[in-house]
Amino acid sequence: MRSAIESRVSRRKFEKEAIADWEKENIISLINQLNEVSGLTMTFIENGSSAFGKLRKSYGLFTNVRSIILMKGKKDDKDLKEKVGYYGEDLVLAITDLGLGTCWVGGTFDKDELTIDSGEELACVVAVGKVAAPSFTEKILRSATHRKVKSMEERITSDQPLPQWVQNGMKAVLFAPSAKNTQKVMFKYENNILSAQIADDYSMDMIDLGIAKKHFDIEAGGKFEFGNGGIFHLK
Ligand SMILES: Cc1cc2nc3c(=O)[nH]c(=O)nc-3n(C[C@H](O)[C@H](O)[C@H](O)COP(=O)(O)O)c2cc1C
Repeated sequence: MRSAIESRVSRRKFEKEAIADWEKENIISLINQLNEVSGLTMTFIENGSSAFGKLRKSYGLFTNVRSIILMKGKKDDKDLKEKVGYYGEDLVLAITDLGLGTCWVGGTFDKDELTIDSGEELACVVAVGKVAAPSFTEKILRSATHRKVKSMEERITSDQPLPQWVQNGMKAVLFAPSAKNTQKVMFKYENNILSAQIADDYSMDMIDLGIAKKHFDIEAGGKFEFGNGGIFHLK
């Protein structure tokens, strides 16, 4: 399995030091490439700390947030949130490869501190920064939120034994981050057709769907169609 899929964990405590220029350039160039293929308008903000400055919104969970990525796109893009998850997870995994820490943040930041064009919608942000070994609080939070990682059987229904490529994809899905760690995206393999869906009763659900599909695509070698219930095609 791609090592970044296995090693990535949400990091909420960053070093004070800004990320290096080469790292920043690397991230910006990848953002540009992903915006090009997706039509998204994700934007790197060197210092977005003001959106994490107030205890009121960030619940003190985050420390020294500096660089953030605005995960946004055009308001009229019907797949906006799912694309944010799908292409954003590419970004998160590449940043993990750089040795930097990341955290998807949908709720615990101050939207009012960020300026967005009127034709655009901000789905969430990703915090990015230098990290030390996980802090005590991070370990506690991780063990609290990670008390339960759902099993493959809880994430997929099927009318036949799962072929190897489905198992490969599903193993990667189990590592996918999800808002509030709900791991709600469900897969179905019936009549030799694989699809992915989510209840879609929470504002972050479609982002979670995109992230889970990305993990599946990477390890199974193929591409999911966008849309709730979207079908997978092997390469
Ligand atoms: C779409 C999305 C939104 C999230 N929003 C927040 C948030 O507002 N605050 C926070 O502390 N973590 C947030 N997270 C991080 C999740 O809590 C985390 O991914 C989950 O608990 C699994 O832990 P892991 O990422 O370490 O594997 C979010 C994750 C996703 C995918």
